[in-house]
Amino acid sequence: MSNSEKLNVVILAAGKGTRMYSRVPKVLHRLAGIPLLSHVINTARLLKPAGICVVYGHGGEAVPAAFSDGDLRFALQEPQNGTGHAVQMALPHLVEDGNTLILYGDVPLTGIATLEKLTQTEGMALLTAQMGNPHGYGRIVRDDDGSIVRIVEEKDATKEEREITEVNTGILVAPTKKLKSWLSGLKNDNAQKEYYLTDVIEMAASEGTRITSVHPQRSWEVMGVNNKAQLAELERIFQLETARELMMQGVGLADPARLDVRGELSCGMDVFIDANCVFEGVVRLGDNVRIGANSVLKNVEIREGTEIAPFTHIEGAGIGRNCKIGPYARIRPGTTLADDAHIGNFVEIKNSRIGAGSKANHLSYVGDASVGNNVNIGAGTITCNYDGANKHRTVIEDDAFIGSDTQLIAPVTVGKGATIGAGSTITRNAPEGGLTLSRSRQVHIESWKRPKKG
Ligand code: UD1
Ligand code: CA
Repeated sequence: MSNSEKLNVVILAAGKGTRMYSRVPKVLHRLAGIPLLSHVINTARLLKPAGICVVYGHGGEAVPAAFSDGDLRFALQEPQNGTGHAVQMALPHLVEDGNTLILYGDVPLTGIATLEKLTQTEGMALLTAQMGNPHGYGRIVRDDDGSIVRIVEEKDATKEEREITEVNTGILVAPTKKLKSWLSGLKNDNAQKEYYLTDVIEMAASEGTRITSVHPQRSWEVMGVNNKAQLAELERIFQLETARELMMQGVGLADPARLDVRGELSCGMDVFIDANCVFEGVVRLGDNVRIGANSVLKNVEIREGTEIAPFTHIEGAGIGRNCKIGPYARIRPGTTLADDAHIGNFVEIKNSRIGAGSKANHLSYVGDASVGNNVNIGAGTITCNYDGANKHRTVIEDDAFIGSDTQLIAPVTVGKGATIGAGSTITRNAPEGGLTLSRSRQVHIESWKRPKKG
């Protein structure tokens, strides 16, 4: 079978998530920076299904409101009368031919390889797992030949059935037409007074439908999130997997257990990332880039050979080749650094272009500025870009030298090759070349007496 064009994916996400103790619906809690449900949707999309339907309920419209993607359908389940009832709500959205795969919005890390194995199986296929402690799970009941005959929930199981260690992960695939008819026959005469999806297995078995079981390659693929401890556990598993993939591609990591990638990180050759770095959004690092410990990078491209020293924060910026940044630098959105630029400790750069070979090495604020090539910005320089109402630009042309503790009152231009004397407040354009300074002359008052306590 395995006609992937006719595969429906139904994602159950209507449950309450009581143990999260949160106003946010459980499936919107984030793992690696995106909602749990997004992980499931992203994996489902890799199967190229005919459609994806999310069954939501608890938390109301917050769930569909969080997703604007046109390929998703949403079915409301209200009240939540069980997993079988949940799938029933999705039925109007399913194409009849082919199969339906059931996934869970709070089981985020099921791998594509496992799901492919499941969807390529003839008839009905269940994802099951052996568990040392099967408590709380539905148990897989097999006959003497080893064929699956039904699933019994913990609360409905006999003492003998509770001894079974093969459990239902909940994930299954079934022929859509048959699933529809089985679901219409569900009853809620069980311990929880719910319509159990698991009851369709017995119906399928008694009709002679082939039921196969598939096991996940790794145990965490079927782990669900019920509380914040489990969320944190899966976060670490995800991050360790990401770290492993990066290392296999040749990225050097000081400690794979201390890396957080919340988005997409791509690296060239011989990249090294020190401990405790966080990467968000889309980050691209060129060959030989080094990232110092405790740095946070969000939506950044860094070209080859650049070194980021520890405790540096960069967001929404493009960084050239062989730059040196940090420690303790902050580079904010709209900034580009050309090759060989140096940005040092306690320097903040916002919405500015810094030319090739230019340096701002200590304690400065450069905002809304265009800085040319080979400019030296002395310690404590501030572009006064905000007049209380509007932002204005500062232009510093090539080869200028800005003395320490200078305020550049924007809009203002410092001409090519100009030198600004330290401690100046520059309110008018400084011409090319020469020295411009605005501080008053130094005086000495011989007769001056320090005030005394009265
Ligand atoms: C279910 C299975 C059980 C399996 C276990 C794995 C049934 C009857 N039992 O049990 O065999 O071992 O999962 O974790 O299916 N949901 C809805 N609407 C509802 C009820 C649930 O959308 O009305 C969603 C929940 O949001 C959750 C998932 O379905 O994501 C599972 O629901 P839950 O109540 O946790 O099922 P279990 O009792 O754990
Ligand atoms: Ca559960």
